[in-house]
Amino acid sequence: AAPAVQGAGSVKQQISNLVALSLRATVPEVDVEPIVEVCTGKFGDYQCNNAMGLWSKGKGSGTSFKNPNAIGQAIAKNLPACDVIESASVAGPGFVNIVLSKSWVAKRIQDMLVNGIKTWAPILPVKRVVLDFSSPNIAKEMHVGHLRSTIIGDTLARMFEFSNVEVLRRNHVGDWGTQFGMLIEFLFEKFPNWEELGSQAIGDLQVFYKASKQRFDEDAEFKDRAQQAVVRLQGGEEKYRAAWKKICEISRNEFDQVYKLLDVQLEEKGESFYNPYIPQVLEKLSSQGLIEESEGARVIFIQGHQIPLIVVKRDGGFNYASTDLAALWYRLNVEKAEWIIYVTDVGQQQHFDMFFKAARMAGWLPDPKEKKFPKTSHVGFGLVLGADGKRFRTRSTEVVRLGDLLDEAKSRSKSELLQRLTENGKIVDWTDEELEQTSKAVGYGAVKYADLKNNRLTNYTFSFDQMLSDKGNTAVYLQYAHARICSIIRKSNMDVEELKVSGNISLAHPDERVLGLYLIRYAEIVEEACTNLLPSVLCEYLYNLSEMFTRFYTNCQVVGSPEEPSRLLLCEATAVVMRQCFQLLGITPVYKL
Ligand code: ARG
Repeated sequence: AAPAVQGAGSVKQQISNLVALSLRATVPEVDVEPIVEVCTGKFGDYQCNNAMGLWSKGKGSGTSFKNPNAIGQAIAKNLPACDVIESASVAGPGFVNIVLSKSWVAKRIQDMLVNGIKTWAPILPVKRVVLDFSSPNIAKEMHVGHLRSTIIGDTLARMFEFSNVEVLRRNHVGDWGTQFGMLIEFLFEKFPNWEELGSQAIGDLQVFYKASKQRFDEDAEFKDRAQQAVVRLQGGEEKYRAAWKKICEISRNEFDQVYKLLDVQLEEKGESFYNPYIPQVLEKLSSQGLIEESEGARVIFIQGHQIPLIVVKRDGGFNYASTDLAALWYRLNVEKAEWIIYVTDVGQQQHFDMFFKAARMAGWLPDPKEKKFPKTSHVGFGLVLGADGKRFRTRSTEVVRLGDLLDEAKSRSKSELLQRLTENGKIVDWTDEELEQTSKAVGYGAVKYADLKNNRLTNYTFSFDQMLSDKGNTAVYLQYAHARICSIIRKSNMDVEELKVSGNISLAHPDERVLGLYLIRYAEIVEEACTNLLPSVLCEYLYNLSEMFTRFYTNCQVVGSPEEPSRLLLCEATAVVMRQCFQLLGITPVYKL
């Protein structure tokens, strides 16, 4: 019978489908999920680990197997005949080692070259995701923490989008709250003609914020006015709304500049957007008996937490938590998202933990143990540290301007590039435009990659020297590796485009086979990075891939060898996969360096 394997999904998924068929034949009475992993030993490429679990489960149910190894043997034997698997053998207590057929691997690569890398998109069990990231606060500094959130969030969005998941990229900006009272009053005071002013005239909002804060702290009469301004704003008074809008607009312009530099798309739905939904959402929670009165505030008590989640402050105002509850309600019921993901520093973990639990108490979300959708996840990340081991700051100023940071990365990479090109006499081959574009791609890419390659939970030390080094696991090294492959392809007299259709990939040499197998793992890597919300998984893959390519290239002559057509296609496939990794990491690849 023809195996029920769709040609889509990751290789791991396809092997799992085959194993599922075998399990149905081997233990028809048990309903069991296939457990398939990349093989750790040298006897296979993938392995099936179901036998041991089945043995302990099946013991009492009258199966006729003597031991787990016998179950493994049966699983191996019952794998459907197909062109994917070359052989399967059983090791130890029933590990089924599966060897993939070389020609199938080669064909899969060639298909990708002809039909595009999108054919290697994994299939994820989710259709629509809300990704809440970046989310700076109006008139406050957009600090490196927000830079991390922006970079990590954007990469996650790109990975999901590649996997055909619809992503609602949400910028949950802090555009509502008591700080607006003082900002508005200060605006009135400083710029009586504020309505006619363009956003430039007001200058730097962070300076503006500081000055207004100082005024607020020093002058009781101003403070009083500011507090009234909050009430008038929230009451919807026209003049106050207009001033609020103006301030948000100025802020938005500043944020947008950074997003443009980073090439990040975001849709702003700030805290103010959810404000009208708060009363009805709290009303629902209240009618479920979840909200209680405590010390003048309205709160939700949550198991395992000492302090309750405050949802209405003592002064009757709403807060961060009430806004997040309303936003979650909206995302679940109006936007119908199945997975809602929040990217912030780990410092906010408790907040997310508490309001996720509140949502579960209200029956909005299933128990996470059930592993069902809809679900929520907090993607926490560590601090960015300076060389002194303290919170990262630039020179004298206490804030880090993201734009300046990117500029510096670019100019540093430009001077290194210029120096190298001058030394090896190649500077004549470059136009100014090329120099500019390349240093931008390399510099910005370096900043992003340095952030993404670490496990996001750990703090990381920001160092231009390290991230711009062309050695080790850096974006610069990877850009070189990719550009080198492109130059190999250019050097050949053969036409890769034509070879894709007429040529043939053979994986005869062991290093060719290893490279080919690693290439086709691409889909399951993206799948894993999405499932565990870990961009670092993709970085690790990209780095390993470049290392594997180097080994292949060292041991297998490409240009001028009899295997040139096949090997050139392997070069091309590696370049395509590397570029796609760059794309998902938000890095612009360069073709010559
Ligand atoms: N504005 C917040 C901050 O700067 C981040 C918001 C994250 N998103 C959310 N839905 N709470 O810390």
